[in-house]
Amino acid sequence: MHGSRVSNGMSDSEETQLEARLAEQEAFEPPAEFVEQANVSDPSIYEEFEVEWPDCWERAADLLEWETDYDEVLVDDDEPFYEWFVGGELNASHNCLDRHLDSRGDELAIRWEGELGDTREFTYEELHREVNEFAAALRELGVEEDDVVTMYMPMIPELPVAMLACARIGAPHSVVFAGFSADALATRMNAADSEFLVTCDGYYRRGDALDHLSKADDGLDGVDHGTTTVVVDRLGDDHDHDHDLGDDQLDYDDLVADHAGAEVEPVTRDAEDMLFLMYTSGTTGKPKGVKHTTGGYLSYVSWTSHAVLDVKPDDTYWCAADIGWITGHSYIVYGPLALGTTTVMYEGTPDYPDKDRLWDIVESYGVNQLYTAPTAIRAFMKWGAEYPDRHDLSSLRLLGTVGEPINPKAWKWYYKHIGDESCPVVDTWWQTETGGMMITTLPGIGEMKPGAAGPPLPGVDAAVVDGDGEAVSPGEAGYLVVDRPWPGMLRTLYRNDERFVEEYWEAYSDPDADEWVYFPEDGAKIDEDGYITILGRVDDVINVSGHRLGTMEIESAVVDVEGVAEAAAVGGDHEMKGEAVYAYVILEDGYEESEEMRDRVVEGVEEAIGPIARPEEVVFTPELPKTRSGKIMRRLLEDIANGDELGNTSTLRNPDIVEDIETKVAGD
Ligand code: WTA
Repeated sequence: MHGSRVSNGMSDSEETQLEARLAEQEAFEPPAEFVEQANVSDPSIYEEFEVEWPDCWERAADLLEWETDYDEVLVDDDEPFYEWFVGGELNASHNCLDRHLDSRGDELAIRWEGELGDTREFTYEELHREVNEFAAALRELGVEEDDVVTMYMPMIPELPVAMLACARIGAPHSVVFAGFSADALATRMNAADSEFLVTCDGYYRRGDALDHLSKADDGLDGVDHGTTTVVVDRLGDDHDHDHDLGDDQLDYDDLVADHAGAEVEPVTRDAEDMLFLMYTSGTTGKPKGVKHTTGGYLSYVSWTSHAVLDVKPDDTYWCAADIGWITGHSYIVYGPLALGTTTVMYEGTPDYPDKDRLWDIVESYGVNQLYTAPTAIRAFMKWGAEYPDRHDLSSLRLLGTVGEPINPKAWKWYYKHIGDESCPVVDTWWQTETGGMMITTLPGIGEMKPGAAGPPLPGVDAAVVDGDGEAVSPGEAGYLVVDRPWPGMLRTLYRNDERFVEEYWEAYSDPDADEWVYFPEDGAKIDEDGYITILGRVDDVINVSGHRLGTMEIESAVVDVEGVAEAAAVGGDHEMKGEAVYAYVILEDGYEESEEMRDRVVEGVEEAIGPIARPEEVVFTPELPKTRSGKIMRRLLEDIANGDELGNTSTLRNPDIVEDIETKVAGD
């Protein structure tokens, strides 16, 4: 759509002028060329969705093929336990595969690239075949409808195959991010009573073959019930896979070969039947099992892929996230495949073998949409424009970001150096719990304001309020709330309805008045045009490179280290990661602050959660700042981490300690 900037013919001074112009520009119109072909370009959609609500969501449901039509779009008899498309029946694997076979059977569904440069492709026909074979194998292993199957896998094609195979037989999946620790795997399998695991021998990172199976095995040691495991051979000769398989571990390729040509009729699922579980971090210690359903979730991710990512069947679309997180579920697997497009998957890091790896993939595959995270964009910016400049990125039509606030500078860099000022950038706010995007501009309609995600999507009713639930004035900081249900919303926390109500609904709802308000636990502000800027989490969640980590999980990992008496973990600002973990640690008597102690704390966190949670700083202190009632003042610890001016410390039980800690952090 736009010319290659390999030869953009600009002189240095023209470049500089352009930077100056961009630096000052606060709003950007959607490029006309984009608008002309956009899936959604008529601004009346906002009004229509308001007038028709909740029936407006039929448009989302219409993107799917239903076995039985639903009777009611929304049932709200038992708030906040909403039900969507009630009475409808469908199967997600049928919607992502079978229904495309006639029209697009020979078109590519998945284009995968390994870190070493090896590639694999699946047409819809081929993906359908493998999903059927693996579904038959899972059945034979004893997986029944509604059994939770855990997947602990990196970015290899067998992961979406396994997810769709589960969807086909009505077994909800629970994908655990491969970078998480063995302990994290065990916790999640125990919480869901999951008796089946699909994993692999390993994968490549920065050219090295990582052993993943040992980690999976360690995790299985912590599972308190019997399990059956399927192991994918990813590494071939780089890992002696067969040698390592235990008695209850089966080889994926053997299983699929044993079921060659098998056909498994997609199980009829009720719209409200669970499609998957996804564990995520929250305020209290244990991860929460977010439950998503078949009808509402699939409709919602299909609709947002269509309206926001502008996905069309003939596109080559790339969401450069990991399927281990919700972004990958919704926008690598379910949304794009439901729309019959080609979805790209990449196994490795963006700087292997060089810092232009992503641009090499965009160019060679002719990628039309790129959806990634601000943390990645900040890294690209730091590496410099020379890397994208080496490639022809003219196939790109739309850019997207997700996961954390994007600063205007990074937004503009992305817009200019990747999009050549001719691709709209959608800054999409959403969460594991929301299932799909909630706040973003529509790329074919809305003016873009770097730094602000945008208005709520049509049909979504989000607002920014103060502590009492009253709307704040434009520009003032407040809390983000969502005033109406939406089809992609979580239905509950698995086996914990009470916590679901407590965590998300109690803060702002008035049950007596039948008013239910969803609280995402983010701070925000809103401008005169209704554009919302997200200010970050207001609960005890740290957002490291767009990955959600609970401070409580980190603290309990630190306290488990021998010699640690007490700990507090907070997020401090970080140039590249957005936020980084600061761990403040009190040692038991008899233990001294040392490099070794520091390493043990870091290792303890890595082991309990994973390397992504690794503390950036470990600060040893004899005390933590506490209120008179004994609560740790995390705000102060955050201010210290950020080198900010400290708020009032006079209400502390031990005000003196603050200065000591501050001196220590500043001295590091
Ligand atoms: C943050 C990821 C600012 C936010 C899809 C939210 C964002 C949390 C944005 C959810 C954005 C996500 N701008 N902040 N565009 N998108 N966030 O569950 O704090 O991993 O609550 O879902 O990420 O993280 P989660």
